[in-house]
Amino acid sequence: MEEQIEHKGILWGTNKRVAQYHIDRFEEFIAQSPERIKQLCTNDDGRLKHIARAEHFDKNFIDIIYKTAHAARKMGKLPGNSFLSSLFPYKAAMNFFKQPSSRTLLSFYRAEGILGMDRININDITTSSQYKGESDSDSLRTTSSYFDVVVARHPSINFDLLGVYVAEMCSRDFRYINAGSGPGEHPTQGLLDVYTISESFGGNLDHKVIAFVGDCLRGRTIHSLAKIMSIYEGTEIYFVAPEELQIDPETERYVKEKGVVIHKETGSLKDIAPLTDIVYMTRIQNEHGGDGEYNPKFIFDQRILDSMREDAIEMHPLPKREEIAPELDISKDPRIMHWREMRNGMWTRVAILSYLFGVDEQIREVSDRMDAAIKK
Ligand code: MLT
Repeated sequence: MEEQIEHKGILWGTNKRVAQYHIDRFEEFIAQSPERIKQLCTNDDGRLKHIARAEHFDKNFIDIIYKTAHAARKMGKLPGNSFLSSLFPYKAAMNFFKQPSSRTLLSFYRAEGILGMDRININDITTSSQYKGESDSDSLRTTSSYFDVVVARHPSINFDLLGVYVAEMCSRDFRYINAGSGPGEHPTQGLLDVYTISESFGGNLDHKVIAFVGDCLRGRTIHSLAKIMSIYEGTEIYFVAPEELQIDPETERYVKEKGVVIHKETGSLKDIAPLTDIVYMTRIQNEHGGDGEYNPKFIFDQRILDSMREDAIEMHPLPKREEIAPELDISKDPRIMHWREMRNGMWTRVAILSYLFGVDEQIREVSDRMDAAIKK
């Protein structure tokens, strides 16, 4: 079979003329201002209709996601409660993953099930029409005929906007969630991370000092969380990484413009950890090139944990490799968050889906009523 034409890391089919037509349209689309792109991701009532980029979030949205996740989680603990699973009997989700995933895929799949949605995963490309030369945009557009929401992960940094581009072409109301666009963004991970931070600091997200460690250049979870934290007062960020993996210019410019104080550190994590509220570890993202070898001076171990404040926390989006010392896996220290974040991810994704389909308020109200009834 003829090779697919690739542009900006996206597949455009095998025919040159057809591919060029869409490439030109997409180039025009992404050349629009960030404000216009945000507008295209937002409904007339100001609520987001697509979750494409962290820069589209604001305090109010993050607060809604936090409170809804919290309410859904409480309800989920009540045995025999069928309220959540009765919410979306006629909605269907497609999880379209062209890059490996465990946590994001599984937690979305579970979240969709918790809300009673019909759902399917496509993560083996040999079983889809892409194998027959179908473009990425046609594959996405196909899903819009059968599904109400597509959750997509793709190796291209531009895929966050391809979803919005395709949704704009469709006549059906169809929602798009970016579940990881190459080394660019991972906005739903950013939301589950900020949920974890909020839970750990009694809901207070202001004046946090956070160290992002490892692959700041290509760590998409870092990019999304740094942008989210830039919404809050007095955020200070240390990017702790070797020179060649230091923060990318786009994220750096964005957070600086929002008033975040940043420090780029190539020295040792040991000197930075005691100064922070959060140490956010990442692995070397060597699927984008390089050998992935981790410099020992950035490893998080017991000594680093001991140097941290009593109320500070460690986080990691996972998967992890050697950057977290294995002894910490059996530690019961409440500051270690990397396993807890995963469970938070499922409830955050329940909240995101409920928000997109407008039932988040109902979840919070029912949860409040249940609380009141239990207290009586
Ligand atoms: C991601 O999808 O970006 C992960 O959760 C983090 C990683 O792959 O290292």
